[in-house]
Amino acid sequence: MRVIVERNPEAVARTAAQFVARLVRRHPTCVLGLATGGTPLGLYRELIRMHREEGLDFSRVVSFNLDEYVGLGPTHPQSYRHFMQQNFFDHINIDVRNTHVPDGRALDFEAYCVQYEKMIEEEGGIELQVLGIGSDGHIAFNEPGSSLGSRTRLKTLTAETVRDNARFFATPEEVPRLAVTMGVGTILESRQCLLLACGQSKARAIRDTIEGPVTAQVTASALQLHRDVVCVIDEEAAQLLARRDYYLEVERLQARLESGQLGTLPPGKQPL
Ligand code: F6R
Repeated sequence: MRVIVERNPEAVARTAAQFVARLVRRHPTCVLGLATGGTPLGLYRELIRMHREEGLDFSRVVSFNLDEYVGLGPTHPQSYRHFMQQNFFDHINIDVRNTHVPDGRALDFEAYCVQYEKMIEEEGGIELQVLGIGSDGHIAFNEPGSSLGSRTRLKTLTAETVRDNARFFATPEEVPRLAVTMGVGTILESRQCLLLACGQSKARAIRDTIEGPVTAQVTASALQLHRDVVCVIDEEAAQLLARRDYYLEVERLQARLESGQLGTLPPGKQPL
C-alpha cells in the first residue's frame, strides 16, 4: 500500500485528481469506479477545474459508482445518481450513457446485481476505483462483517452509518436502511484503488485499514490484499498511524526518483 499524507483536504483533492487525470489522459476510454459522500467532493471539484481550464477530456470515459440507497430514484435529492450529476457529471463532458450508478429501485435486486457485475466485466473491468471510508472502516456499503469475497448485493446499513448519513435527510425516518453496493470482492478486482480520507473522524478507521489485521470487521483492511492501492489522506486522518514517518520517507524517495536524482525508475512505480 502506498500512503500519501497531505497537509489538508485541499491537497488530498489535488493529489487524488492527479492520479485520475493521469489515467484519463493516458487512456481516454478508461473505466473509472466512483464514490459519493463528502470525501470525494474536492476531487470532483478539481477534476471539473481541470476539464474547464486544461481541457481534460471525459467524453469517452466510462464510470461505475459503488452504491445507491434502496428506494431512492435518480431524481431524489439524496440519491447517489443525483449526487453524481450535481457534483460531477453535469460539469464535465462525460456521456451520461457511459455513467452507471446502481438502480436503487430495481424490481429484482438479485438479478440486477448480477447484471451490474456483468456490465463492469463487459467494459473490461474497473481501472481505477475511487474510495472513501466510513468511520467504522467500511468501503462502499460493505459494513463490518461483510464477506471479503462479497459481490454486488443488497446490504443492511449499520446504526453508525445511518447516523452518519442522517445529516443529509430532513428526518431520521427518511434515512434509508438498505443499499445496493459493490462487494469487497468486486472492489478488489479493480486494477488500482485510490482510497481517500480526511479528518479526525477517520483516523481510527485509517489506522485499522493500513496497520491493523485484515478482517471483515474493517472491510477496508481487505485492501491490504490488493497489489496496487494508493491511500491519500490528510494529517488528521493520519494521526494514529504508527509508521507515519516511514510513509513520508517513502514519498520523499519517490519524489527524488521521479525527478531523476536517484537514477531511473519506470514512471508511476514506487521504490519500496
Ligand atoms: C459512498 C461510499 C461510502 C463512503 C463512506 C464515507 O459511495 O461508498 O463508503 O465513501 O461512507 O463517506 P464520507 O465521505 O461522506 O465520509
